[in-house]
Amino acid sequence: MIMSGKTLMWDQTLFRRGEIFEFDHIPEHFAHRDSQIRSLMFGVRPAMQGMRPLDLMCVGPPGTGKTTAVRKAFEELGEHAPGVVTVHVNCQANQTRYTIFSSIFHKLIGHAPPTSGVSFRKILDEVAKYLIQNEKILIVALDDINYLFHEKEVDNVLYSLLRAHETHPGTKISVIAILSDDRMTYIFDPKVGSIFLPEEIPFPVYAWDELKSILRDRARLGFYDGVISDGVLDAIADYTSDAGDIRVGIDLLKRSGLGAEQRASMTISVEDVRSAYKRSRMLHLSRMISSLSEGERAILAILAKKDVLTAGDVYAEFHETVGLGYTKFHTMLNKLVSLRLIDTDFPTAGMHGRSRTIKLRYGADDVLMLLQR
Ligand SMILES: Nc1ncnc2c1ncn2[C@@H]1O[C@H](COP(=O)(O)OP(=O)(O)OP(=O)(O)O)[C@@H](O)[C@H]1O
Ligand SMILES: [Mg+2]
Repeated sequence: MIMSGKTLMWDQTLFRRGEIFEFDHIPEHFAHRDSQIRSLMFGVRPAMQGMRPLDLMCVGPPGTGKTTAVRKAFEELGEHAPGVVTVHVNCQANQTRYTIFSSIFHKLIGHAPPTSGVSFRKILDEVAKYLIQNEKILIVALDDINYLFHEKEVDNVLYSLLRAHETHPGTKISVIAILSDDRMTYIFDPKVGSIFLPEEIPFPVYAWDELKSILRDRARLGFYDGVISDGVLDAIADYTSDAGDIRVGIDLLKRSGLGAEQRASMTISVEDVRSAYKRSRMLHLSRMISSLSEGERAILAILAKKDVLTAGDVYAEFHETVGLGYTKFHTMLNKLVSLRLIDTDFPTAGMHGRSRTIKLRYGADDVLMLLQR
């Protein structure tokens, strides 16, 4: 870019490589996740000796690198393990056993199964036949598996995948579940629990300096030199750490860059970041709300109607509308705290108390609007 004077000409841009700021971009440099990548590779390695890999479960809050880590591990396998086929399934887009197996079929056979009149059983038969004839081991990543926690669909999916060696002898299939949560809040059906015993790989939220270094790397690749200062990166890291999701930071880089361009500035200011944050935090909020269970959404709806409430008050209304008991309520409340959707006044000591006060960390109108979607 040729800089002329202090203002940006209409045909100039601050973006060296805009695609760097898209969420589906797989970063070349994936820092701070070495131990998770090692655990993933350790789990899938048996496939290199023709054995069924270990089942794995990547667990952590939104924006902690789970999807990226699994994609990286699959890339690595694609290069070094010709006997293995990997399928990455987005469970938000594929919420039934039928569509999940259809996408596995598609990846293996190269085209989608015929749309009408094909039973699930037939698709499974074809998948198994392909694996046996081609002597391939299949690893299925079920990404955002929490979207299957409705009507026990997850149990059906896991059961069909992990019992395939009984229904179709000779098949070797393993599962990498990716759960966007900070803990296992879903209890699998006992019959699945006996065949799905995954090694858990935790993805903790990034610390402030990790966030900053990841964002600095992105900014270096995506912007021209001198566009973003260290002080502005600090401001972005602050907002990102407050939201807890690295996506907020990546979105902030993009939006504040566009904001600076709009005012024909050659550098991004803290003010650009501040005004970009109004949008970026909504993006994060909308993603989190869409992954919540009915009960968790009910709690948010109750809180959005009043400013501050005690846990006891919220529970009374929750129990009346949803019909669930205090233990479930307590678990859900803790999950909402750890997702940083709500604040309570006793972060540690009074976790069980019904008198602790609770309030939303986001604007009530925004929350209500997203809940209605
Ligand atoms: N360590 C890292 N280095 C570089 N980029 C990263 C890192 N971790 C995450 N990212 C980037 O942040 C974004 C979110 O990461 P990713 O999609 O892997 O998170 P996730 O844990 O799967 O989140 P969710 O639970 O919401 O699906 C992606 O664009 C990814 O490239
Ligand atoms: Mg993900």
